[in-house]
Amino acid sequence: MKLLIASNNQHKIDEIKQILGNKFEQILSLSEAGIVCDPEENGKTFLDNALIKVRAVAKLTDMPVLGDDTGLCVDALNGAPGVHSARFAGDHDNAKNRAKLLYELQDETNRKAHFSTAVALLYPDGRLVTAEGRADGEILHTEVGANGFGYDSLFYCNEIGKTFAEATAEEKNAVSHRGRALQNLANKLEMM
Ligand code: IMP
Repeated sequence: MKLLIASNNQHKIDEIKQILGNKFEQILSLSEAGIVCDPEENGKTFLDNALIKVRAVAKLTDMPVLGDDTGLCVDALNGAPGVHSARFAGDHDNAKNRAKLLYELQDETNRKAHFSTAVALLYPDGRLVTAEGRADGEILHTEVGANGFGYDSLFYCNEIGKTFAEATAEEKNAVSHRGRALQNLANKLEMM
């Protein structure tokens, strides 16, 4: 069975392929499937937004569709940017989002934060499997590392003792929010 990812973010697609690659004969991005779909992600939770993505894409394909939604939740900002992580600085500009985060935390000593991910897998027959994952860490005062994307260079992950942008893909996947959400999803698929 093929799997369609409701995203064109190559970082995410590579991470998903690493974890679910042996469960599907082929994993395709939206652009690889020739699908254009960018619904407004106006849900209140990460799971709401993952469901918005998979339901919109599922109308355009007969493949199973996997969607994920991720956000960074900062304790000192009462959980912001949260579901607004992509548009924190008013657009989808990762560099501007990171700059705004550093600005908002400039005088803050409590740097605790976590990433949360919700994933949803919707089959053409209507079956739905969902899972969540979380990674805990701290927001640094400057960017460290050149791998990854989004907020990775500012997020020091407690479990691996470095930022996600310093980690290899394998190191990040083993402990990351999306890695854990996908692993939880894979475990549920094993039991189906
Ligand atoms: P979305 O899940 O693609 O909507 O992403 C929401 C926001 O979180 C965007 O600004 C992404 O760049 C960021 N983001 C998503 N996943 C990660 C990650 O694994 N590391 C760092 N930032 C991420």
